[in-house]
Amino acid sequence: MSRVSYLNHLTRPLSRSSRLTISSSPNSLRQQLRWSSHSPASPSLSARGQKPVTIQTLQKMHADNNPITMLTAHNFPSALMAQEAGMDMILVGDSLAMVSLGMPDTSEVTLDEMIMSARAVSRAVNRSFTVGDLPMGSYEISPEQALESAIRMVKQGRMQSVKLEGGAEMAPAIKKITTAGIPLVAHIGLTPQRQHALGGFRVQGNTLDKAMALLKDAKAVQDAGAFAVVLECVPSDIAGQVTNALSIPTIGIGAGNQTSGQVLVQIDMIGIRPPDAFMPKFVKKYGSMWEMGLEAISQYKQEVTDRSYPAAQHVYKSDAKVTEAFKNAIQSGQS
Ligand code: KIV
Repeated sequence: MSRVSYLNHLTRPLSRSSRLTISSSPNSLRQQLRWSSHSPASPSLSARGQKPVTIQTLQKMHADNNPITMLTAHNFPSALMAQEAGMDMILVGDSLAMVSLGMPDTSEVTLDEMIMSARAVSRAVNRSFTVGDLPMGSYEISPEQALESAIRMVKQGRMQSVKLEGGAEMAPAIKKITTAGIPLVAHIGLTPQRQHALGGFRVQGNTLDKAMALLKDAKAVQDAGAFAVVLECVPSDIAGQVTNALSIPTIGIGAGNQTSGQVLVQIDMIGIRPPDAFMPKFVKKYGSMWEMGLEAISQYKQEVTDRSYPAAQHVYKSDAKVTEAFKNAIQSGQS
């Protein structure tokens, strides 16, 4: 092992994203622990003795009538933040397509893209229970295709469970996945992958017939083995009745406060969207990260332009003698 990698090895348990750098001067061998702007911060919650959330934790929360909190994350820092804030579940949702990749809807995103996002999230998370969304086209053809995609999401995406959209018609796929030992969250009501068939993003279950169909779907996914079901864009009282009729928890989004838990898209709720971006009625903006980011980047632009950044505290100093010798060498044409 080289000296540098050996010293790196020794310091690794002491530092999070720190990297050991050693002065190139053979005499000094000065060691500096520094925070690299390129290395990720590793998860810190395990050090605080918190237990990971499991299916059993979620079932107990449901039995005790404690709301389950779920939030999307699409990359390493957003997953770190979601876990740090105490989210019980972190969903790598295919909302990735629209809010992070700028696609017009979720139909375009591929399983490979979802897996890349899931892998990044998995590196940040050691407490929250993770769910990886199966994107459109990766599970509808057959239960075998669904299982293959679910296995990839677990093995390559390193997720603890998967989610797919659809009700009774997806029961065979759900059964196939769950009997293979992969926990699954179902998603009914508004299913964005089918938005064109549904005529857009519309409230679901708002007539007696539609509410009955929603309940049928909820029971079908429960019977097929789903351990939870997302209810999206459903009137609050209908979602409450569906919740009462099930033994598994319901996670609502635009479904009122009578569900067993809630999920939101992180980028929406912390406000990283431009002010004119469309936001559904159910989204509450808990933060204004767009404005904060814009202000910070504008100030950076200004300070680079007027040369007030980098300031003295951001600068590495060289030995005056080295600088002088370097200058002389250049002037005398030694370079
Ligand atoms: O893709 C997603 O983020 C979702 C949630 C909104 C439930 O499916």
